[in-house]
Amino acid sequence: MSNAKVTLGMIGCGYWGPNLLRNYAELEGCRVKAVADRAEDRRRYIQKNYPEVATPLDGAEILKDPEIQAVIVATPAASHAQLVEEALNAGKDVFVEKPLAMNTDDAVRLCRLADEKGRILMVGHTFLYNAAVRDLKKRIDSGEVGKVHYLYSQRLNLGIVRSDVNASWNLAPHDVSISNYLLNAAPIRVSANGVRALQPEAARLEDVVFMSLTYPNDVVMHTHVSWLDPRKVRTLTVVGDKRMIVYDDVAADKLYIYDRGITRGEKVIEEQPSDFARFKMITRAGDLTIPNLRLPEPLSVECAHFVECVAQRKTPLTDGWSGVAVTAALEAADRSLAAGGAPVEIVIPKKG
Ligand SMILES: NC(=O)c1ccc[n+]([C@@H]2O[C@H](COP(=O)([O-])OP(=O)(O)OC[C@H]3O[C@@H](n4cnc5c(N)ncnc54)[C@H](O)[C@@H]3O)[C@@H](O)[C@H]2O)c1
Repeated sequence: MSNAKVTLGMIGCGYWGPNLLRNYAELEGCRVKAVADRAEDRRRYIQKNYPEVATPLDGAEILKDPEIQAVIVATPAASHAQLVEEALNAGKDVFVEKPLAMNTDDAVRLCRLADEKGRILMVGHTFLYNAAVRDLKKRIDSGEVGKVHYLYSQRLNLGIVRSDVNASWNLAPHDVSISNYLLNAAPIRVSANGVRALQPEAARLEDVVFMSLTYPNDVVMHTHVSWLDPRKVRTLTVVGDKRMIVYDDVAADKLYIYDRGITRGEKVIEEQPSDFARFKMITRAGDLTIPNLRLPEPLSVECAHFVECVAQRKTPLTDGWSGVAVTAALEAADRSLAAGGAPVEIVIPKKG
């Protein structure tokens, strides 16, 4: 393996971009050469904090620089598809923030383009680089949790209100990507209800979304996302037949493993037998275990993974196709929202 550093360029450095920039700038294996942002105050921020980094006005400068091997796209969601396409066509590897695109056709097209050009395409599904989520997955994969019956999550806060996408496109990519990862599957159906409280009606943007995703084998994932809530909540509960686990991202200890459950006991002998057999339900209220996890900043793990994939030509954990699965679920959720919560099938095109 060569020791040469990967030279990076970045497009968009608003609210989230600085977190990516800090992590990429701190990594050994890469160098950030240029960051483009249309907003003057953002360019001033970069010039002040990273004087060695060039600050062009837009991404075209970055795309035509032959020294820049890979591009990070951290602009608003609606611009992702076009910028990623331009970067891939310019021969760059690409890291794009979630969501990969605003519709499944665009997402698939970008994956195929990346394959055709032999480029790396990675989506910023940050939580898959989180040690607590990875520990939770290990416990599911090892059989410790048993058969997963259902999961549910809440991602709530007061703000930040976005006016370019609804709460589902802004917040639920995290929840959908986490549940796809934990279940090793993609959802097949979605039903979603939303609340429009803040935005002009013509914008048709939900501030709150309640989304139920059905996975193969009737596993149900329910997520509630909102930027109109009194408290910051980020929890995910997994209920299996052997263990129940709560992941609380805002608590000091992230994982709570409950040896709790209810199992079916003996048949109840009834004086007047009914049509259905009845069974005793035995409650198991065992111990709560809180593992002591080593928690590196997920973003640093994510950024290091992208640089490693670029340097070693490896397929990222969160490759373009993982972005397709998330995009397809969110697109179907939009259709369900428009149809008053009616179930909508999620169609995910096959690779190739
Ligand atoms: N992974 C996470 O936890 C996380 C958290 C927040 C946001 N995000 C994602 O990060 C992305 C950016 O979100 P944000 O909140 O930083 O948005 P933002 O609006 O605060 O910042 C976007 C920046 O991009 C610049 N920009 C837009 N189009 C451009 C173009 N064509 N060329 C150059 N500059 C351009 C704007 O001037 C702005 O400074 C979104 O995709 C969002 O979903 C991810």
